[in-house]
Amino acid sequence: MTDAADIHVTPVTPALAPAVRALRVAADQYPYVGDVTFNLIDAERDPLSDAMVILAGDEVVGFYRLDYAPTTVTCKPLEAAIGLRAFLIDRNRQGRGLGTRAIRACCEDIQRRHPDRRVLALNVNCRNVAAIRAYRNAGFVDSGELYFGGSAGPQHLMLRRLG
Ligand SMILES: CC(C)(COP(=O)(O)OP(=O)(O)OC[C@H]1O[C@@H](n2cnc3c(N)ncnc32)[C@H](O)[C@@H]1OP(=O)(O)O)[C@@H](O)C(=O)NCCC(=O)NCCS
Repeated sequence: MTDAADIHVTPVTPALAPAVRALRVAADQYPYVGDVTFNLIDAERDPLSDAMVILAGDEVVGFYRLDYAPTTVTCKPLEAAIGLRAFLIDRNRQGRGLGTRAIRACCEDIQRRHPDRRVLALNVNCRNVAAIRAYRNAGFVDSGELYFGGSAGPQHLMLRRLG
């Protein structure tokens, strides 16, 4: 099933925050993303992080964080990179192509607001098949590096060129 709604992304505003806090993933998906309210508060108090909302038409369907200090994701300096974290689509809207399209919208937003950034970097758990597929579909490639620091098990470092 696909969802034809127009997808766009924008920084979380006070008006959008309650709908962001209401987003949920399945119980077995929380180890991959953590709690959305925690991520919202943590991103908002971090000057090097953006809290971002994914909208399908006017409806809030997802959330992610952009990290301008990408070593939180890459664990080593990577020139002109930006980190993507806590990317999620609400459990009631998953599996309809929204995640793949939201990643594309995320990349377009970065290119518009931060044209100096050349690479988008993320960590994804090796068991998270749906996320790996969505990221590949949206142009990410596996760097071949594995990170073992995550509490939910090893993670791939995936990279996507911007522009
Ligand atoms: C990962 C996530 C954002 C993907 O969003 P989505 O809207 O469900 O993804 P899409 O509908 O665009 O589908 C992406 C791909 O995954 C596949 N997929 C979806 N659910 C799947 C599942 N349970 N098992 C295997 N593949 C699955 C789809 O078939 C599609 O691949 P294809 O087009 O090659 O067939 C969403 O599932 C989610 O929020 N998961 C919980 C949080 C999470 O794990 N975030 C990632 C952190 S790194």
